[in-house]
Amino acid sequence: MINFKKIVTDVIFNLDINLNKEDIEKLIEIPPNSQMGDFSFPCFKLSKTLKKAPNIIAQELVSRINLENSIFSDVKNMGPYINFYISSNEFLKNVVSEVLKKKEKYASDDKNLDKTIVIDYSSTNIAKPFHIGHIRSTLIGNAIKNIYKYLGYNTVGVNHLGDYGTQFGKIIAAYKLWGNKEEINKDPINMLLKLYVDYNNLCKTDEKMLDVARDYFNKLENNDPEAVNLWNWFKDISLKEFQKVYEKLKVTFDSYKGEAYHSQFIPKVLKELEDKNLLKDSEGCKIVDLEKYNLPPAIILKSNSSSTYITRDIATAITRMEDYKFYKNIYVVASQQKLHFKQLVAVLTEMGYNWAKNCIHVEFGMVSVKDDLLGTSSKLSTREGNVIFLDDVLNKSVEKTLEIINQRNPNLENKEQIAKKVGIGAVIFQELFNTRIKDYAFDWNNVLNFDGETGPYVQYSFARANSILTKNSFNIENYNNLKFDCFELNNDEINLIKMIYKLKDVLLESADKYEVSILTRYICDLAKSFNKFYNSSPINNQTENIKSHRLILTYCAKQTIEIGLKLLGIDAPEKM
Ligand code: ARG
Repeated sequence: MINFKKIVTDVIFNLDINLNKEDIEKLIEIPPNSQMGDFSFPCFKLSKTLKKAPNIIAQELVSRINLENSIFSDVKNMGPYINFYISSNEFLKNVVSEVLKKKEKYASDDKNLDKTIVIDYSSTNIAKPFHIGHIRSTLIGNAIKNIYKYLGYNTVGVNHLGDYGTQFGKIIAAYKLWGNKEEINKDPINMLLKLYVDYNNLCKTDEKMLDVARDYFNKLENNDPEAVNLWNWFKDISLKEFQKVYEKLKVTFDSYKGEAYHSQFIPKVLKELEDKNLLKDSEGCKIVDLEKYNLPPAIILKSNSSSTYITRDIATAITRMEDYKFYKNIYVVASQQKLHFKQLVAVLTEMGYNWAKNCIHVEFGMVSVKDDLLGTSSKLSTREGNVIFLDDVLNKSVEKTLEIINQRNPNLENKEQIAKKVGIGAVIFQELFNTRIKDYAFDWNNVLNFDGETGPYVQYSFARANSILTKNSFNIENYNNLKFDCFELNNDEINLIKMIYKLKDVLLESADKYEVSILTRYICDLAKSFNKFYNSSPINNQTENIKSHRLILTYCAKQTIEIGLKLLGIDAPEKM
């Protein structure tokens, strides 16, 4: 597809204003409204070198631009800005022929296959519930992976299981005290959670119990058969439970190698730290001093010589580099772990790894829940046991969606299946609509509103586009020789085409900033402009010419919405 920004850059470059193309491209802006053009170039920066007021410069430069045979319908200056208006037929021609050519791969790329992006997401903890707090990592990470893959990168999705650490000592100790195998097999996560919570409460009154738990973890690290057997069993039953949620969300991973797997490389890491003179003794622990990074020291071994979370992450990062030669190693993990990842990068840097800078913590804020499942708005903490299970939220969403469908469209075929797609899609959409760094409150009133900025609204727009095409027996083969020059486009049509044109830029920006909400909001805006077009631009009782270009626009909109939803991990039901 033509890159309009590049053309604008070239036009400005050819005016000989002593700026290179890269600088020019950086200065070019997209104006806030289309009356100010499609691209605009501010002349403030030129005023120093050309020794004139920016608006005079803009005026003079405009007079030197030749519009004949160009893609522009107009170029004019507004004060210090040069505004470029691209002819709408040029937009139409480019967008439509590109969508027709690439179809469900529109705006994708295949150039980056030599670059591997490792994405560490979800990374649930064994024997603990997959609660709504985990939803962010799972969904944001999955969407980031999808976007990078679509842009042609080689991606590796890793579920870095939290299957190691003192908490396993606690669960084993609790099991030895109170455990009942049958009960646990019946309701694994709840029962294991109960053991963990009860044991934490016991530790509050009896500090010795903490030592007992530490000893059990120590046994686990030293391959004590009883500890290892129990641990394997906890792991199996927990993973089975998690898998149910992943299946519902259609989230997949390429690797489940987590903390326990990487623990085998800890001795190697310790030796390396030792050889590089980085390990120091401090109060019985082994630490790496990070004062020059303005960070507290990283504790590598505790006084009982157990490894820590960061030790395991150091081993993991090095192993990932060996295994994948990654271009980026992305951790989608809550903001609470900001310090941990700063320390991790600092230790790797101290070890002399210049790839440490490619280890990126993609952080996100907290979720709280306004919900009658709990009665009040509360933050989510596993330790206290007041968790909301993601699975319950998904089930409830599907249930509520079915109620809404029964009111709005009771004769819909396959109601249950559509309710699943819409109910689950709604939860995913709401999650990915929020800027990741912000805390947000999960609220049913927002999630399932068919007229708001929601998943159901976008899915409904997709289903509407689909039904228009079906009703008109739309066949893409009939449009291969379409001529575009003869169309008079109305404003809503032009806006829709420009929205569709933007997809590629949106994907690049979302990937670059690891910010999925840019894509989510874009799809929502796209659905809005499609609905505006739908309301103002009828297809029935029109000339063949108008009918055919409106149908093709509907097709392009449908295709683009579907691509966006799929990248977010949301199904697009054909009917709703
Ligand atoms: N299991 C951890 C948690 O739930 C997240 C792990 C993130 N990944 C990592 N490599 N540290 O807090």
